[in-house]
Amino acid sequence: MGPLAVALLLGAALSASRARVYFREQFTDGAKWQNRWMNSQYKADLGKFRLTAGKFYGDAVKDKDILHSHSNVMKSNKGRPLVIQYTVKHEQKIDCGGGYVKIFPSNLDQKNMSGNSQYYIMFGPDICGSETKKVHVILNYKSKPHPNKKRIRCKVDGFTHLYTLILRPDQTYEVKIDNEIVESGNLEDDWDFLPPRKINDPTAKKPKDWDDVAQIDDPNDVKPEDWDEPEYILDTSAEKPEDWDNATQGEWQAPMIKNPLYRGAWKPSKIDNPNYKGIWPWPQIANPNYSTDFNIYSYENISILGLDLWQVRAGTIFDNFLVTDDEEYAEDFGDETWGETKVMDEILTSWSSPFFAR
Ligand SMILES: *[C@@H]1O[C@H](CO)[C@@H](O)[C@H](O)[C@H]1NC(C)=O
Ligand SMILES: *[C@@H]1O[C@H](CO)[C@@H](O)[C@H](O)[C@H]1NC(C)=O
Ligand SMILES: *[C@@H]1O[C@H](CO)[C@@H](O)[C@H](O)[C@H]1NC(C)=O
Ligand SMILES: *[C@@H]1O[C@H](CO)[C@@H](O)[C@H](O)[C@H]1NC(C)=O
Repeated sequence: MGPLAVALLLGAALSASRARVYFREQFTDGAKWQNRWMNSQYKADLGKFRLTAGKFYGDAVKDKDILHSHSNVMKSNKGRPLVIQYTVKHEQKIDCGGGYVKIFPSNLDQKNMSGNSQYYIMFGPDICGSETKKVHVILNYKSKPHPNKKRIRCKVDGFTHLYTLILRPDQTYEVKIDNEIVESGNLEDDWDFLPPRKINDPTAKKPKDWDDVAQIDDPNDVKPEDWDEPEYILDTSAEKPEDWDNATQGEWQAPMIKNPLYRGAWKPSKIDNPNYKGIWPWPQIANPNYSTDFNIYSYENISILGLDLWQVRAGTIFDNFLVTDDEEYAEDFGDETWGETKVMDEILTSWSSPFFAR
């Protein structure tokens, strides 16, 4: 029933493994999450996030010391993979609403976070009507948001799903749902960050004798002599009404009707053009406006995870937020958290306490 906005600084809490865990939030310490998350106040009628028992599906006992709020801000993800992961569950039979997270630079004014706040990454499912059922991967590049060109379908059921985005220093990416790859590729190919590497050579001209017409009229196909029939003819079955008066109504004429023998304009049949050379391969040249950028994936002062959503109906549960540099760690963490929750979901589908309400 309105926009929701809440944000949290990405703290740096190192786990036992070599994984760098920039941010991990499982809401396992009662009301303390409110000290870590900040509610935006940019509008008075913003929705509220709420912690409820419904969120504690799965494992209720978890490490309570993993989070250090407002500690080291991640300077940059340069040279390291960036993994953003969380679970989301729409309990409310969602018809229109976002379930995505946004990652912000450190200069975000958390108290004033809104849809206008510039973000680095927007990632996650968005559902609206029968048209929109997609996973957004909107990446900021040179202060402009760039949406993913490949369509990724999101889950629309009421179960908990694990969403993972991986950006790598070799500029490849992966989107996973429930720890299975649903899309992958290269940042340069699947977003329009950079102009194309090659362009048509503007000085090249198609040779005059280049025949790129695939099909021609069959010269052996001639029009049948009896083809031409008028489209409309007089209705010979019509009779002049008895009370017709030439003097006042003019001379009576039978009405016109469609000619059943009419066959339309004659067209010869088509055959393959024996001289067809195919589409002319326009010579390509290097685009003078193109220059490689090996740092598309990296962000300076990447620091805050926020939920800035519009929902028609409340009842989406977010959990198990993780921002790390370690794909394997994220996968294991996902299996442990989402894996467990999933099993419980199937038992507890009648629970309907939302994590937040408006
Ligand atoms: C909050 O953000 C809006 C733009 O989204 C801006 O116009 C406004 O000045 C900001 N308010 C404060 C107190 O910074
Ligand atoms: C009406 O005109 C037609 C054609 O000119 C003619 O054949 C016919 O006799 C006329 N009928 C009368 C009642 O004048
Ligand atoms: C290169 O960029 C300039 C400035 O934006 C533009 O005018 C020009 O048409 C571009 N050239 C090509 C080959 O796209
Ligand atoms: C990152 O933060 C530092 C310190 O606040 C600042 O000097 C720098 O300009 C920021 N960089 C970007 C790209 O915002």
